[in-house]
Amino acid sequence: MTIQTISVLGGTGFIGGHLVNRLTSDGYSVRLLTRNAKRAQPFASTPAVEVREVSDFTATTLTPAFAGCQAVINLIGILNGSAEAFDRVHAQLPAQVVAAATQAGASHYLHMSALNANVQGPSEYLKSKGRGEAAALAGGQQGLHVSSLQPSVVFGPGDGFFNRFAGLLKFSPMIPLACPNARFAPVYVGDVVEAFMCTLTRSDTAGHCYELCGPKIYTLKELVEYTAELIGRKRLVIGLPDGMSRLQAKVFERLPGQPFTTDNYLSMQVDSVCRHNGLADLGITPQAAETILPPLFNR
Ligand SMILES: NC(=O)c1ccc[n+]([C@@H]2O[C@H](COP(=O)([O-])OP(=O)(O)OC[C@H]3O[C@@H](n4cnc5c(N)ncnc54)[C@H](OP(=O)(O)O)[C@@H]3O)[C@@H](O)[C@H]2O)c1
Repeated sequence: MTIQTISVLGGTGFIGGHLVNRLTSDGYSVRLLTRNAKRAQPFASTPAVEVREVSDFTATTLTPAFAGCQAVINLIGILNGSAEAFDRVHAQLPAQVVAAATQAGASHYLHMSALNANVQGPSEYLKSKGRGEAAALAGGQQGLHVSSLQPSVVFGPGDGFFNRFAGLLKFSPMIPLACPNARFAPVYVGDVVEAFMCTLTRSDTAGHCYELCGPKIYTLKELVEYTAELIGRKRLVIGLPDGMSRLQAKVFERLPGQPFTTDNYLSMQVDSVCRHNGLADLGITPQAAETILPPLFNR
């Protein structure tokens, strides 16, 4: 089946925005499904993007929404919420998306998971991501080409990681940092998008999960110190011991916007680094943060 039209869920988010731009520049038509059409405003003048507002994402609402699409890409995800919310968004929703994609006659389902997604993982985020990935891969038994991506933290224009720390560091001379020794291998959003394009176009990617990492491993403290350097500020980053990190999560999860939660703390108990970097399997050379980020922060 030739892929021409692709339904994208989560296309209003950071990675989704980059992916939708790439899909349209490669000549695909995109049907962007969102809970709030206003969030799709950046695509208002892109004729290849059709925005559809869907109030409740279920197999019943999604099947007609996927009609005429040969592929479905799901990037929906949350960082905070109750165990029920994680289960609904990360585990139940992918099962519904797979059912709807099959029912609508799509050939491909591309799934966004996360590094360390595991039904036995330490946090609700990672456990629910593990259940969702299993539900996604089960779509292979319905004849769907299913591939799943598991990135470490993703960076690039508009990212939530470096921009959030940059915002904090601008106004705070000192940062008490939880889990300072947690390790990450930040991966460039352009490489993640390229990985999606490979799984869309290459038949040998069916049934595979790809861990995605950048070329270098850093501790969280090193990343925050690097962010201060990027914005040209001298800042003191104080790594908290484990007990204080847990306490900070307990306090911060009560603040508006929940800047840091116990579940985030638990996710960081496993290093976000690849055992095997799937970018190599896909023939993609990972870009370094030091190449991409300085121009974004005018350095
Ligand atoms: N960014 C990273 O570093 C990173 C690392 C590993 C994995 N991931 C995964 O990659 C995916 C995209 O990440 P991102 O950083 O681009 O996220 P993001 O900017 O927060 O975007 C999340 C998207 O999910 C949608 N969404 C959230 N809750 C929803 C719900 N209950 N029902 C329907 N849609 C909902 C939002 O759509 P609307 O509000 O428009 O409906 C938004 O488009 C997520 O699955 C995330 O777990 C990200």
